[in-house]
Order: sequence, then structure tokens, then C-alpha cells
Amino acid sequence: MSTTVRIGLIGAGGIAGAHVAGYLRNPETVTFAAVADPVRENAEKRAGDTGAAIYADYREMLADADIDAVDICLPHHLHKDAIVAAARAGKHILCEKPLCLTPDEAREVSAVVEETGVTLMCAHNQLFLPAVAKAKELIESGTIGRVYEVRTTDSFFNDFDLESMGWRAHAATSGGGELIDTGYHPTYLLLHLAGGSPVEVTAMLATHRLTFMEGEDSATVLVRFDNGVIGTIVTSWAYEAADSTERFSAVGELGSLTSDGTTLSYHVRGEEPVVLELEPVHEFGAEIEHFARSVLDGTRPLHTEKEGVEVLGIILGAYESARTRSIAEVSALTPVA
Ligand SMILES: NC(=O)c1ccc[n+]([C@@H]2O[C@H](COP(=O)([O-])OP(=O)(O)OC[C@H]3O[C@@H](n4cnc5c(N)ncnc54)[C@H](O)[C@@H]3O)[C@@H](O)[C@H]2O)c1
Repeated sequence: MSTTVRIGLIGAGGIAGAHVAGYLRNPETVTFAAVADPVRENAEKRAGDTGAAIYADYREMLADADIDAVDICLPHHLHKDAIVAAARAGKHILCEKPLCLTPDEAREVSAVVEETGVTLMCAHNQLFLPAVAKAKELIESGTIGRVYEVRTTDSFFNDFDLESMGWRAHAATSGGGELIDTGYHPTYLLLHLAGGSPVEVTAMLATHRLTFMEGEDSATVLVRFDNGVIGTIVTSWAYEAADSTERFSAVGELGSLTSDGTTLSYHVRGEEPVVLELEPVHEFGAEIEHFARSVLDGTRPLHTEKEGVEVLGIILGAYESARTRSIAEVSALTPVA
């Protein structure tokens, strides 16, 4: 491999702009080598003046371009096929959320990554927020003791209409509603902070305002993890969270921590609360840097397909629970040996 990871971008729409900004912040480890999108205008916009080769079809890019890795920024229903094609072509993979959409797809993704030995990293950008990284460090160092409960929230007022929402409004292309889209972020954040594997889940879904969507616009989800942690996720496109709502918090046997996403405070029982001021980072720059380092050094990314499948397991379990009005088991969704 070259001294930089040569990346081929697949899908040059909205979020690809943030990813390209991430490549350009990491010139020592990343070369933006190629981009594939059937909409030429989108591909040209993302390539800009970087010299990245432009393709209409990512399969042609996989066959022709001098690349080590792909970065998948496609609508959800196209993720699995792109992962399988890239892995079979021997390319490492950074994949936007969600990893894929169904248990069968999850099994296929896990199997192809294992078989080909490529590195797959889930593009879980919020893990690179300094407040999240510091919270994880505090939890792992035992500052708040054994963790009992974790809460995550990600809600905003989405002013899309049916036309501007495009593929996101339809279950066949999005995989569900808000929960499998924006709700994916507070779910991987919950998994990361809880530190165990999810075992059961129950959820209530609602459509408060975006009635043109096939799926829900809001969800409240409860998750039990195998280490005893109970997690709560609240997520919505219908409304902004109330002013004092935390972005995430965790409570343990010795105390608690809480964050608005930027600052982080913790409070050990019997001691004064501590407020940490953290240096901001470029979230996508940090995410791309982590991917490049994982590929170049052969180290495990923070979240691989293993965590991607666990997050999907929570979300599919939440959908099943809402449908059956019960507590659903989170199945492992790993390939049958
Ligand atoms: N991390 C975040 O905060 C964040 C934010 C927004 C979107 N996303 C994720 O990024 C992904 C893309 O979302 P988006 O908002 O950029 O969507 P988008 O609709 O803006 O862009 C999708 C792009 O894919 C292209 N495309 C469609 N079919 C293709 C194919 N077969 N080959 C190559 N290109 C193809 C489209 O032409 C378009 O340019 C989704 O998985 C979404 O959930 C993540």
C-alpha cells in the first residue's frame, strides 16, 4: 500500500461534503483518489479541484481506480451491496450509518468482512466528539464506578417535506423512519458508553408531525445490556429537545456524568462537581484520521461491523417491540458458523 490511504468515495451527496473536508484535513494519511456517483454534477462538486477521478458506476471504480479503500455515503438500501462489492475487490471500507438494513444483510456483511479480511469501520462520527471520548475515558477509569444507566438524546426540528426528504421518507430505501436514520447516532453512543452487548429492547414510536413519512418521526427506546446497564434513547425529527435535556449522561455506583455534546461535567458523590472545558475538534477530520490510521497501522477501528450490527440489532429490536407491543430480544445477527 502507498504511504497514504487512497480513498474512493461512493455517493457524492450531502454528507460526502463533510467526508471530503475530512480527507483534506489529513494529507499525510489520506489521498482522495476517486469518486463514483451516477449524478455527474454531484461527483464533480465533491471532486472539486482535488484531481480525484470521476466514475458513474462504483463497480467500474472498484475495478479500475488505484484505491486502497472506499468510503460509502449512499442511501441506506444500497449500503450492503456496496460493502460486499468493495470487500470482494479487496478494499478497506468506511461506511456511513446504518451499516445495512436487515438481519440477512447483517449476516452477509459480517461474513464477507471475515472472509476477505478487509477493515470495515462504521462512520460513527459522534464518537470523535471530545466530550464523548472523555466520558468514555472517565467511565473506563472507574470515576463513576459500575455504570447503572445511560441516556442519550438526539432530536431536532426537521423542516423537510415529502419532496425534499427524498429516499428518507420511504421505508424501502431508508429501512424504517427517524430511528434508523438520525436515531442511529444516539444508539451507537449508548452502546459505546454502556460498554456491554445489548440483550433486550422495548420501544414506543410516534409520528407527531411529519405525517408524510412511512416510518416514525420520533422514538423512545429502552435497552438492557449484558453488563446490567439500562439505556434510554430519545430521538426525534418532530421537535427540539427541551432546553435542559442532556445530549448524554451516565450514572454509576459512585456518581454521574452529563454532557450537552460540547462540555462535560461529572460529579462523584460527596465531592464537588467538576466541569471540563474541552478543545473542539473537526469531527469528520478526526473520524477520517482514525480510519486512515486503522488501515495503515492494521489496528482495530473504534466501531467495526461488530458494533454496527449491534446498533442495527437494537434498532430492529425496537421496531419489532413497537410492532408486537412487547420486549424484544436483540439477536446476535452474526453469521451462522
Ligand atoms: N453522519 C451524519 O451525521 C450523517 C448525516 C447525513 C447523512 N448521513 C448518512 O450518509 C448517507 C448518505 O446520506 P446523504 O444525506 O448524503 O444522501 P444524499 O441523498 O444527499 O446523497 C446520496 C448520493 O448517493 C448517490 N447515489 C445514489 N445511488 C448511487 C449509486 N448506485 N452509486 C453511487 N452513488 C449513488 C446520489 O446520486 C447522491 O449523490 C446515508 O447513509 C445517511 O444516513 C450521515
